[in-house]
Amino acid sequence: MWSLWLSSILLVGLYLFKRLSSPLAKVPGPWYTNLTSFCLKYHEFTATRRLFVHRLHKKYGPVVRLAPNEVSFASLDAIREIYASGGSGYDKTEYYDLFRQYGIKTMFSTLEKQEISAYITIEAIATNDVQHSHRKRELADRYAMSNIVRDKHVSAIKERAQAFVSRCAAIEGSVNVYSLLHCYALDGVTNFMFSPGGLKSLDNTKDYEMMEELTYHQSLQKNLLYYYLPRLAPYFPSCLHPRPAPRANAYVLQMAGQQHPEAHSLVARLTRKGSPLSHMQVAAECKDHMAAGIDTTGDALCFLMWELSQPQNLQFQDRLHKELLSTSDDTPLDKMSYLDAVIKEALRCAPPIPMSIPRYVPSGGRTIDGYFIPENTIVSCQPYTVHRFNEEVFPEPDRFNPERWLEEKGFNDRNRLFFAFGTGGRGCTGKNLAMVEMKILLRELYSRFRSSVAPDMTASMDLDDQIISARPKDQICKLNFAVRGDDVDTA
Ligand code: HEM
Repeated sequence: MWSLWLSSILLVGLYLFKRLSSPLAKVPGPWYTNLTSFCLKYHEFTATRRLFVHRLHKKYGPVVRLAPNEVSFASLDAIREIYASGGSGYDKTEYYDLFRQYGIKTMFSTLEKQEISAYITIEAIATNDVQHSHRKRELADRYAMSNIVRDKHVSAIKERAQAFVSRCAAIEGSVNVYSLLHCYALDGVTNFMFSPGGLKSLDNTKDYEMMEELTYHQSLQKNLLYYYLPRLAPYFPSCLHPRPAPRANAYVLQMAGQQHPEAHSLVARLTRKGSPLSHMQVAAECKDHMAAGIDTTGDALCFLMWELSQPQNLQFQDRLHKELLSTSDDTPLDKMSYLDAVIKEALRCAPPIPMSIPRYVPSGGRTIDGYFIPENTIVSCQPYTVHRFNEEVFPEPDRFNPERWLEEKGFNDRNRLFFAFGTGGRGCTGKNLAMVEMKILLRELYSRFRSSVAPDMTASMDLDDQIISARPKDQICKLNFAVRGDDVDTA
């Protein structure tokens, strides 16, 4: 009995010694985060991790220990070091295994920059230049702005935007834009990937059901269980399995085998002659981009329209309307500064991926923001905090104010800290597509309509954490639309 007590005390003593002598003991943070990750996990499972991390930053500053092996940062230097040093920054953590599609690794879920990729070309094997960056380069021309703004893509997006506006105009009373915006994003990304195929979920019931399958699910806790208890996962009862998406899976498998895709579509690039990818690998990559392009763009637009519809923000809506009226249909989208400011401000206040974007510190450890962080520590910055922490750059950080983006003073600092699309070699591939989709929809809508919060809107629009993304809590956003008369163009 005594020996049991003695060995327990010895073990606890050893653990405490290890923790207290670790370089992470010097990192600011609550004492318990040096001993256990329990508190962080509790917040993950209760969907409050983002706010927990944010509170700690407010209390302890730009560097905060979250758990014995995890540190969060909120400065520009840290962002550059973690996500952009050496081009691609540090490697992703196993957390990204949750984003495999059909069990296959995709560009998004590749962990290491040096990881042998399914996209290896013969030349790449010969030069041993086989990395995530190689995958990214393979797809770069599809997501380049010059490809996105091709007539074919733009007219398809515009046609979908007009379908969205017609749906809003046709509904009497309040419109739940949350579901329609998800349809718009789904239609946009599938038309881009599979052109001339692509969904029409704004008009077609069967396609609408696919949007529902992909959008309405409660899978945060189930995914976390898979991540933390992978060995037990095969024995989980079916109610603990993450959401299945049979319709979407079947659809993407079918479209990935399309015989004559349009030359500038994503699927044409992936299945080009000599492509080393199997049919399943093409499907996995497409499914990944589809998933990456729905909730992000849909939620961003939803938060944006919600903000613009608030009584105190109608002045911003009117100014946007004025800019849209002063430009023609041919005006390049990047020449509309107010439209740009409105989108940036929505992405700043409610970034669709607002949570920690985790990476491993490389071998040998690194000094970040003045603290030595040992190798294999999980480090991250979270867009939600980065966009609020430095109040000199973002005064009144919780207030929606698009006009901050138009001020000359602080222009560079604001843009450097804009982290909604991530940065570096693992930053968002679909940024250009998302921006064009959002701009076209807003132009179609706000040049003719005024939106306001519907009287029967009682749902919560608070951000609700998912794995790394967040969505409106109740997944409902009811707005009213009115055709604008000349009388309101006086703002
Ligand atoms: C407003 C819309 C969007 C936002 C805010 C957004 C944000 C982000 C962020 C923050 C990342 C980095 C995540 C990480 O490192 O964990 C990312 C990566 C990525 N995004 Fe987006 N995204 C948006 C739309 C899209 C769209 C429309 C697509 C494709 C159709 C897309 C495809 C991707 C892909 C493939 C990656 C992985 C890149 C890599 O690992 O190299 N995203 N996105």
